[in-house]
Amino acid sequence: MNSVLVILLSTILLLCLKTYVDLRTALRAVNYHPGFKSFVSCFGVFGFAFKEPRRGLIGGSLRFWHRKHLDFDEAGVDVIHHVSFFPRVPTCLILADPAVIKEVTSHRALFPKPLYHELRLWGGNIIASEGDEWKRHRKVGAPAFSEPNNRPVWNETVKIMVDLFDNVWGSQDTIIVDHVVDALTLPVALFVISVAGFGKNASWQSDLLPPSGHKLSFKDAIHVVSVDMFIQVVTPTFLWKLAPTKRIADVKLGFEELEKYMLEMVEERRNAPKKEERYDLFSSLLDASDSDADGGARLTDRELLGNIFIFLLAGHETTAHSLAFTFGLLAMHQDYQEKLYQHVKSAIPDGRLPTYEEMNKLTECMAVFYETLRLFPPVVGVPKVVAENTTLVATDFTGKRRAIPVAAGSDIHISILALHYNPRYWDEPHAFKPERFHGNWPRDASLPLMAGPRACLGRRFFETEGIAILTMLVSRYKIELKDEPAFSHETYEERWDRLFTVKQGITLA
Ligand code: HEM
Repeated sequence: MNSVLVILLSTILLLCLKTYVDLRTALRAVNYHPGFKSFVSCFGVFGFAFKEPRRGLIGGSLRFWHRKHLDFDEAGVDVIHHVSFFPRVPTCLILADPAVIKEVTSHRALFPKPLYHELRLWGGNIIASEGDEWKRHRKVGAPAFSEPNNRPVWNETVKIMVDLFDNVWGSQDTIIVDHVVDALTLPVALFVISVAGFGKNASWQSDLLPPSGHKLSFKDAIHVVSVDMFIQVVTPTFLWKLAPTKRIADVKLGFEELEKYMLEMVEERRNAPKKEERYDLFSSLLDASDSDADGGARLTDRELLGNIFIFLLAGHETTAHSLAFTFGLLAMHQDYQEKLYQHVKSAIPDGRLPTYEEMNKLTECMAVFYETLRLFPPVVGVPKVVAENTTLVATDFTGKRRAIPVAAGSDIHISILALHYNPRYWDEPHAFKPERFHGNWPRDASLPLMAGPRACLGRRFFETEGIAILTMLVSRYKIELKDEPAFSHETYEERWDRLFTVKQGITLA
């Protein structure tokens, strides 16, 4: 018994010693650069599984939401160091410095993306790939996002909103929406990417219910998968087969249903009589999956599904939550909403439907979106890895230049949240001030859609649908918070906290 205890204690002692030595080595490797430590990492699957930070023990993916720029304020520099032991990462540098971020995002070969295995659920795709594989996916997807394809995005968005106003909301003066994401922004965004990207027509009357042969609606299937995909990643297959809990069974059903929908979309389009030449995203993906497609842009059947899934996901999840945050912010700031309303009325004076040509006049809508995306960036951070030993140079708050050595294999995390709340670039960073996006603003300090060769491909798609939706909604309705007696005595701050309680899923929600 005694010898067992001795072995146990010695093992613990050795582990502690090794941890201490590892920690010193990690700190020495980055010249004792300031930062924070936690036993479980803030990032990756563990960051998602344990979201709330616990001092020193759990990093928590929500750390950056709670702390915003505070870790950097305390360190006195906009690049900090995070050490974690589970999973063990030798070095992870976290960036909120626009110049260093630019250096990283513009050198794709030196700072590639990790593979995002969690997003390769059906197969390789444009978001979860790197190097030549990514180039091949990008070559297939990018042409569908060129300027001529934006007009259909606008026109389809307008149709979807008219369908909502005329056939769902009808002549009611007041519409009460209990869950703005579920009932409004998620369906709109999903309908737009479905029809504009994949030619899959959508209607508010029929598409929110499961069609025959399905147990879930298309919206619910993709929503379940996007919210709970990490369950699929961390749950062993034998548990999947047994489906012992309701949550696992629901996720399993979501995956099966989504795959069925995607296969039906492929079959329907492949079998459709060729009425007209189409240049949408779906056509590019299907052409590339033909056996006689050019080798440099050829997709396997799994990659076809992988891309359909990723474009559907990227094309609606971020947009849906951004629109919801926008409506919340406008409801909290009635003065600004009035300004926006007057702006929309002056840009489209006679109350008719806005046209694509008028989009560039709607600058106030764009300012509202930029400010929403600054305060609530759907993608709060972007990971990169270091391919070769290199040095990053940051200027600290006293103006001193600091060289930070980074070894090959180290992790980098670009903290979009900390960048967006960086007081060195944004005056009153916690306040909603869309006017800061008129005139000159620090472009490198606002990166909700990232920058460099791996920047968001759907930027213009989002701006087009977003401006159409916001213009149409604000010109017809005033957005207010539901009048609830229980909250009538709330202060502005209390209301803000209640309304903007965030969840960290695949995006900030
Ligand atoms: C508010 C809306 C959106 C935000 C905030 C957003 C944000 C981002 C960010 C931060 C990235 C880089 C991710 C990374 O490197 O890991 C990205 C990539 C991407 N986004 Fe978006 N996105 C939005 C809307 C869209 C839409 C509407 C689409 C498609 C219709 C789309 C398609 C893509 C694609 C395909 C990529 C990968 C590009 C590449 O690596 O080549 N996004 N997005």
